[in-house]
Amino acid sequence: MSKAALARAGNIAELRALAQRRLPSPLFDFLEGGAEDEGTLRRNVESFDRWDILPRFLTDVGGIDPSTTILGQKISWPVILSPTGTSRFFHTEGELAVARAAAAADTIYTISTMSSHSMEEVAALTPTPKWFQVYCFRDRELTLEFFARAKASGYTALVVTVDVPVSANRERDRRSGMTIRRS
Ligand SMILES: Cc1cc2nc3c(=O)[nH]c(=O)nc-3n(C[C@H](O)[C@H](O)[C@H](O)COP(=O)(O)O)c2cc1C
Repeated sequence: MSKAALARAGNIAELRALAQRRLPSPLFDFLEGGAEDEGTLRRNVESFDRWDILPRFLTDVGGIDPSTTILGQKISWPVILSPTGTSRFFHTEGELAVARAAAAADTIYTISTMSSHSMEEVAALTPTPKWFQVYCFRDRELTLEFFARAKASGYTALVVTVDVPVSANRERDRRSGMTIRRS
């Protein structure tokens, strides 16, 4: 993907169209798809669409400050990055690029347990605060090992994912044969 094409993309729909053109279709569907008829995915998008930014007119806009504090950490605007595993499926720089983007926007990046770069490498890359997302594996020792590594590398919060007690029925992935081997 050329930098010029990316720079011309003006919104998420245009970025999505570029990704669709560029990625092999099983990977695009893995990125884009949801589980079980994609009903929750659809309802999430519809719910989010109902939110509006409330404009306040005839006020002084010379010194707007959208910064906020979350779990004691000040960030420049009220958006943080949620965990997305296996980012190297979609770009060779994977989580490194996402962490750099979060740092450039002065916000928090949540790295996934399923990260395709090591959490230590990502932690060391940028100075901005990072959180670590963790799945609670049946193997409690493994889970505790993840906690310890996250703490030692400077992650400041744990994000516990509780909605994956079983693997989701992702129909696009079943059709394309896109599976992730779990060791
Ligand atoms: C490609 C992709 C990978 C994801 N990987 C993870 C993950 O590894 N761990 C996790 O807890 N959530 C993961 N998620 C879920 C996201 O963090 C997020 O909760 C979900 O996309 C809903 O957020 P949204 O409503 O802003 O789209 C992933 C989502 C996508 C699209």
